[in-house]
Amino acid sequence: MMKLIGILFFTLVFVACSAEHSKNDKKQNVDERIQQKLSSGGDISFDFVFQTVLQDNCLECHSSSRSDSNVNLSTYDFTLGASDFKSTVFKFEPDKSSLYQTTQLTSGKRAMPPSDRSPLSQAQKDLIFKWIEQGAKGVTTPGDKSGPSKGELFKTYFENPETIDYQVVNKQVFVKNCLDCHSNDGLKPDFEGAIQYGQDMSDYKALFTDNGIVPNKLVDYVVNQDGRLRKKTGSRIYKSIAISQTMPPTEYGYKLLDGDSMKLLRLWIKNCAIEDYNSIKDNDTLLEEDDSDRFNGKVRDCS
Ligand code: HEC
Ligand code: HEC
Repeated sequence: MMKLIGILFFTLVFVACSAEHSKNDKKQNVDERIQQKLSSGGDISFDFVFQTVLQDNCLECHSSSRSDSNVNLSTYDFTLGASDFKSTVFKFEPDKSSLYQTTQLTSGKRAMPPSDRSPLSQAQKDLIFKWIEQGAKGVTTPGDKSGPSKGELFKTYFENPETIDYQVVNKQVFVKNCLDCHSNDGLKPDFEGAIQYGQDMSDYKALFTDNGIVPNKLVDYVVNQDGRLRKKTGSRIYKSIAISQTMPPTEYGYKLLDGDSMKLLRLWIKNCAIEDYNSIKDNDTLLEEDDSDRFNGKVRDCS
């Protein structure tokens, strides 16, 4: 009898331990998925947040059948306050959004999930922050209507092109379209020799190697003495995107850039491809530009 109880006890402990293990494994997998998403710099959709955070940690109390505090997190529309449920999100403003605020609290009635449930990981909190900061999009397909269009997002930059700096271009253009392959920190570092035989784009300085970016020069023809166009100089990165359209490589499932992204890049190069606008804005010198339609009349003096 004692032996039987012993075996039973042992089995119970074993089952309990492995259940705990697989739960931890699951959490770790989720965190890995989130971290990958965050470092890719890609758009985050509600579905992704739902699968990796809300479903397992919040729905128990915040679904239509049982919605504590009139908060319902079971669909995108309910989370944003449809059907008289309380809105938990201010788009673009995580710090004002109760969905983010409550997950930052560590005590009190508003701390979410409540203190008798297991807390969210740092990655899960970061994901909620980033999702809201990007505009709390429902879906992230090109037809998405829930966030601002790229045009709206870029509007202020197009109106004040001298304010465009590396931070903006890197985030809006390079991270999304190029750095998978052209950075050692990307998802596919140096894919097929993208850095070694192509172009290093890992940081600001690297962009200028091999004429990747030449400030104020998009594509220029050099006219030889015999009057023939001989050599093109200018920014190789711009050329690969906008002129020859060989990058990003569509044969690997990447899409060519849309017009607004190309325009952002073009305006940045014409305005000397600066690194950080905040550090130089006090002594901008703007020149009249003859091609005023494309460059909004004025550009920075790169000399
Ligand atoms: C065990 C049940 C339970 C779970 C799980 C839970 N909540 Fe709550 N939630 C509550 C209760 C109860 C309230 C009302 C608290 C109060 O009295 O202010 C609430 C309120 C809220 C509010 C409104 C707070 C305010 O003051 O505006 C938000 C937002 C919220 N929860 C988000 C979440 C999120 C996000 C999760 C998952 C990460 C979550 N909750 C998980 C029970 C839960
Ligand atoms: C899927 C991986 C991948 C992505 C994404 C990618 N590239 Fe490339 N790129 C390569 C590879 C591989 C090469 C090297 C080709 C060769 O010369 O053998 C290359 C070469 C280049 C070159 C040098 C050759 C040339 O055409 O002038 C430039 C410049 C370049 N890429 C820019 C970009 C830019 C800008 C982006 C983003 C808009 C981008 N690439 C996105 C893989 C990629």
